[in-house]
Amino acid sequence: MEIVILEEAAELGRLAADAIVALLQHRPGAVLGLATGSSPLPVYDELVRRHEAGEVSFAQARAFTLDEYVGLPPGHPEGYRTVIEREFASRVDLPANALHTPDGAAQDIPAACAAYDAAIAAAGGIDLQILGIGTDGHIAFNEPGSSFASRTRIKTLMHQTRVDNARFFDDDLDAVPVHCLTQGLGTIMEARHVVLLATGEGKAEAVQHLVEGPVSAMWPATILQHHPHATILLDEAAAGRL
Ligand code: GLP
Repeated sequence: MEIVILEEAAELGRLAADAIVALLQHRPGAVLGLATGSSPLPVYDELVRRHEAGEVSFAQARAFTLDEYVGLPPGHPEGYRTVIEREFASRVDLPANALHTPDGAAQDIPAACAAYDAAIAAAGGIDLQILGIGTDGHIAFNEPGSSFASRTRIKTLMHQTRVDNARFFDDDLDAVPVHCLTQGLGTIMEARHVVLLATGEGKAEAVQHLVEGPVSAMWPATILQHHPHATILLDEAAAGRL
């Protein structure tokens, strides 16, 4: 793993955006893996800025998101499809049909999950996957105990994750869904380059496990120690326990 520690979240965003811009300049039809949560927002802001400056186009790109809540009504402002459209896709020239998200409203959940993995494979796999990390060490919604071989599937959220995410639901824990669909750790590990961003003291324990801990399903992000091309972008607070 390549570990980069910088002072400001905006600097982390610029570095991650540099990697995406370079990829798209080299291969305009590249497949991007997008993440929700607050950590990647500086990346998206920087990509929008570069797009507006004419430095990068997403017109031929494809994008897959990591995860989606189950049980939110379509169009709910915190549904991850809506979030990624609002924070990124609608601000650049990515065609609407090039944005793929797991279908949290599907009647047949296992079929929807299998179809999602098949769509990623049909696109040729993900070239660059943006990731955040949960305070419990989850990536996407692969909570502690997730199999390293897991594929896209339904998961139950940990209480701590629901508490962490309640801020997006007016601090109403009951409004936070209990289930989600998430790419598996096996799915994520197939991305050719993963770029994980973590900022703030709240992530320091998870980052310590990610970088220095033994590889353990109890800290799912530790599987990235086995990834051939993982870049970990940290601010000083998130790196505080290294
Ligand atoms: C959610 C998402 C993850 C994200 C994590 C951290 O649980 N499913 O993909 O990495 O939150 O979010 P944040 O970056 O807001 O701390």
